Amino acid sequence: MSDSVPRSFIRALPKAELHMHLEGALEPELALAFAQRNGLALRFGSVEELRESYKFSDLQSFLDLYYECTASLITEQDFYELTLSYLQHAAADGVRHVEVFFDPQSHTPRGVKFETVISGVRRALEAGRLQYGISSYVIMCFLRHLSAEEAMATLEMALPFKDEILGVGLDSSEAGHPPMKFAEVFARARAAGFRCVAHAGEEGPPDYIKQALDLLHVDRIDHGVRAFEDAFLMRRLAKEQVPLTVCPLSNVRLGVFPSLNQHNLKRLLEAGLLVTINSDDPAYFGGYVSDNYIAVQDALSLSREEIGEIAANSFRASFLAEEQKRIRLNELEAYTRRY
Ligand code: HPA
Ligand code: ZN
Repeated sequence: MSDSVPRSFIRALPKAELHMHLEGALEPELALAFAQRNGLALRFGSVEELRESYKFSDLQSFLDLYYECTASLITEQDFYELTLSYLQHAAADGVRHVEVFFDPQSHTPRGVKFETVISGVRRALEAGRLQYGISSYVIMCFLRHLSAEEAMATLEMALPFKDEILGVGLDSSEAGHPPMKFAEVFARARAAGFRCVAHAGEEGPPDYIKQALDLLHVDRIDHGVRAFEDAFLMRRLAKEQVPLTVCPLSNVRLGVFPSLNQHNLKRLLEAGLLVTINSDDPAYFGGYVSDNYIAVQDALSLSREEIGEIAANSFRASFLAEEQKRIRLNELEAYTRRY
């Protein structure tokens, strides 16, 4: 790492995290402890054995294990502890604001009530606000490998909790499940007042990014790195300043890029796109948000100014009100001036 960007500067840099799945913060220790106290048997006997299995060839090979471990989450207390564990890492990483994803459809078919999940998550987020001063919003994602009808039923289930959920997103297996499949669901969500985001252009083609923008009317694209293959789309994303929530360590672990040196994050920045850095599923991909910043800085030699700009983008791309964005951007500016 170049001397001009010390790790301590990156770790304490005020930042927002906009792309992280709470279920992806399930460390092996937590999965095994929750399974044991809930009387469930995971097929892994030890933390080491479970961690050893974190070798993924693509998105699907990760999702298979991710959904398997998610089955250990049953009680309100499980969701509370999971979320609090994430917030402890976030606080140590200089995070001031988070917009967390959760997947209701990973839980409700197992008999875990929507209310149990949201109440544990919200209780921890409130504790995070009081203990660490971290503000937060919740975004619920539809599993795109399931049907549009199931997504619509999930949206209906969420309506009584509208005040506790800011937005909707779209995740899970991307290839073969284009955004257009969910146009009606997103129209209904938008009409109900939810903000909209979607994973697109992680494994799927640039056209999925266009569909997410034009058919789902999303405010941000999660991942979006494959936009790079379409020059016209790149110009549009730059012109419209559509935020991309890029997750570098995730991309390497899932084979989207062969190595971090070959990641296109720097080129996306240089093309004028509004790029942010995020952890995606920190328990599975080898690091929390600051680890992602540090790894990228190491691999791509970003300057201190570029790192500061990415942190500023994280607040700009958030769903915070303008006044709240301003407060956090001022804090960031004071930090970089003082450091
Ligand atoms: N992509 C799609 N679905 C996911 C991801 C991801 O990176 N992480 C958790 N669910
Ligand atoms: Zn994701």
